[in-house]
Order: sequence, then structure tokens, then C-alpha cells
Amino acid sequence: MPVSLARAAAFDILLRVEQTNAYASELLHSEKLENLSTPDQALATELVMGVLRWRSRLDEVIAAASSRPLSKLDPEVLNALRLGAYQMRFLTRVPARAAINESVELVKRAQKRSAAPFANAVLRKIASAEIEPPPAAINGDPIPGLAREFSHPDWLIERWIAQFDTQRTSLICRQNQRRPSTAVRLDSPDVEKELESDVIELAPGALLASARIVIAGDVTRTHAFREGRVFIQDEASQLVAALVGTGSRLLDCCAAPGGKTAALAARNPEAEIIAVELHSHRADLLRARVTAAHVQVINADALQLPFTDDFDRVLADVPCSGTGTLARNPEIKWRLTAEDLRDLQVRQVGILRAALQHLAPGGRAVYSTCSLEREENEDVVEEVLRDAAGFELRDCRAELERLRETGELLWHDLDSLLSGKFLRTVPGVQPCDGFFAAVVERVVSG
Ligand SMILES: C[S@@+](CC[C@H](N)C(=O)[O-])C[C@H]1O[C@@H](n2cnc3c(N)ncnc32)[C@H](O)[C@@H]1O
Repeated sequence: MPVSLARAAAFDILLRVEQTNAYASELLHSEKLENLSTPDQALATELVMGVLRWRSRLDEVIAAASSRPLSKLDPEVLNALRLGAYQMRFLTRVPARAAINESVELVKRAQKRSAAPFANAVLRKIASAEIEPPPAAINGDPIPGLAREFSHPDWLIERWIAQFDTQRTSLICRQNQRRPSTAVRLDSPDVEKELESDVIELAPGALLASARIVIAGDVTRTHAFREGRVFIQDEASQLVAALVGTGSRLLDCCAAPGGKTAALAARNPEAEIIAVELHSHRADLLRARVTAAHVQVINADALQLPFTDDFDRVLADVPCSGTGTLARNPEIKWRLTAEDLRDLQVRQVGILRAALQHLAPGGRAVYSTCSLEREENEDVVEEVLRDAAGFELRDCRAELERLRETGELLWHDLDSLLSGKFLRTVPGVQPCDGFFAAVVERVVSG
């Protein structure tokens, strides 16, 4: 029996995500999938994201039905089982027989024919097993309860409870398990009309006047998207770009794929903007996406910029763990280690220090991440400012109030967007990704 195209694509992507450091969202948008019909693309996306979001819950179900420990299974067999278990436990429209047969065929297709009877037996057992509801707390300890209920690793839950409290951690986890909304940034009202005539249904953004939420339709297939007149960009990411404000010379230190560069370019049409990206293939992607004449893309390391000029606005949107984006990138929660956070922090401190060296007196730098982790956020800013004379941390509240006054910021509860002097969005508390930002000013001496 041939395997359906959507399941074969989902299986191949899950294996690549597990065996390389690839991101599922990028693979799901790769050329290979463009040949699939729209319903098949949607099913492949549902299967990949569903399996990655619920991986530990699925593994628990498989372990209970398996005669062998999961650590002894080949990745091909384990991922075929996860796909089958996901369809039986989380999708209502797939008959168990189809889910079982297709997973068994995937095992054979992966040249693991001898494991096919085993996979068949495990999946049949799962189909007939009773479904146990996960406990909300185990012996009064919320960590294992939340970890199990929302399929997250214990260590992340533990640190989020310490940082955000149990209730907000529960909101974050719940949001991470949902299909995230697609937000777009519109450069002009005409584009909105054009999208509507392309049968794209839009709703107003929750945070920003420039944002719209896509309710129905595929924006990526429109002329406006292909021609760079509409950008898919989470509202929190748009808010960080708005925080940078306006200037005459702007430096974007870590710029690809260019969501924020494009927003800076639209906001600063008269300015000179330098967008720096370390990796050449990503710099090429950035050049293709951001074509405005006043943006110059440079393939360079932000730690050793090939110029000595000063800028009045600098954005350091540094590489980070991405724990604020787990609804979009669920594989991160299974890959990340506490050790990675320490390594990232070293890189982030280096980039922020280098970025501040290019700030003109009176100029402002925005440091940002899409991480929820203190080590990558407050700790980086505090470490850099501890020994950087002539720089001051500004209160993001003043910037948010300015954006409220101009009508750009729609969100009323400014307190919920702030953590001390920092901007901080929390998935589930606001309907967006989790971003962090700090505004640092170079004081004018004398
Ligand atoms: C968080 S992403 C930036 C996202 C981008 N600002 C946007 O809004 O679309 C970080 C980027 O920094 C790049 N990067 C990492 N280390 C860098 C370095 N030392 N210098 C310049 N770019 C770097 C990464 O390749 C990645 O493209």
C-alpha cells in the first residue's frame, strides 16, 4: 500500500528535525513541499507540528504499549509510531485503521521491514488502550503535572515557575501547544484592500495598529507578499522594531531574515540603514527580502564590524534559544539544554558590547531576543552595563507611552508588557510570541 504524500513528507521532516539541527517550520516551507496539494501541505504541517508539540505525551503512550524501551528503537520506527499515536490520540477525523496502516508502511518504506510487525502490534495496543487524563499536579508539585499535561521538559517548567509563577507558566505552556496565529505587518492601507481582493481574510492586530491577523487564506501565495509589500511578522517582533524608533543612521546587527530590518526601513524612509548578517546564505535571503534602496546588507560578524562609523539607532536582535516561540518551533523544547543557555549568553554579551561601540552620543540601542530566559535577557544587559561607562538603561515604559500616544500601540495594559524597565511579552498573557527588549542610551558627556 503506498503511503500518503502528506504522511511521507511529515515523516521525512520529523526525521530530519531529529537527526540534524533543522527547524520544522523551515522544512515545511521548503521547495520540496511546494508540489503537495494545499490540503496535503496542511495535513503535513498538522502532523509535524502536532508530533513535535506533544512528543513526550506520545512517547509515554508508546512506552506503555511497547515491549521494548524507546531508547532501543530506531528513529525511523519511533517517529512512525509517534505519527500513528498522534493521529489516534489527537486527530478526530483519521480512522485508527488508516493511522496504523500508514505508520506500518512508513516503517517498511524506511527499510525497517523487520520492525513492521512490532510497529503494528504497538499501534493496535494504543488503539484499544484507555486514555488516562494527565494529572494537574503530582503530590502538590506543579512541575511534573504541567510538564505532563502540556508535554514540556521538567527543567523548563521549573525555571518558568521560578521566573513567572505557576499560573503564568500554565498560560505559556497552554499557548505553546496551540496553533499560533499568523500576523502580518502592512506598509500601507492599499495592501490591505489588495489582500482582501485576493480572498485573504484579516482581523485587526491586538497589539499594534500596523498589524493584522490572518483569519483565512495563504498570504505567501499573494503578489503583495512576493513583492515584499506585506511581511509575515509576529506582533511582538513588530513591537520591538517600533521601539527602535526613528533616526538618520541605523545599524541592524543581526538582521536576517529581515522582518525587523524591513519594519525599520518602512519607518525610516529617509535614513541610511546598514543591516549586518553573519551567515552568507542568510545575508542573501535578507537581500532578497529587503530590497529598499536605503538598506545596505553586509555579510559580516557583528563582533568585528568592518567599519568604525557611529549610528543614532542600533538594533541587536541577537541569536537566542527561541523559548518565546515554542508554538512555532516546538522542537526547541526537546533540543535545548541549560548548557546552551550559557553558551548563548557569552555570544549575546559579545554582540551587545560590540553594538554599543557603534552608538553615537545621545543615540539609542535596542537589545532584543525571542527568549523567555533571564540568562539571555536581563542578565546580558546587566553584565554589559556593569562595566560600560557612559551608557544608561532607559525605561521602556516611556517608549510604550509614546507609541500609545501616536496610536501605534493598541494594547492598553502597559504594565503587562513591562518587567521593570524592560519590555517583555509573554505567550498566553499577550496573543503573541515571547520577546524581550531593553533600550540603552549613550549619554552625551560634558
Ligand atoms: C534572531 S535572528 C534575527 C532576526 C531578525 N532580526 C528579524 O527580525 O528577522 C539572529 C540572526 O543573527 C545572525 N547572527 C548570529 N551571530 C551573528 C554575528 N556574530 N554577527 C552577525 N549576525 C549574527 C544569525 O545568523 C541570525 O540570522
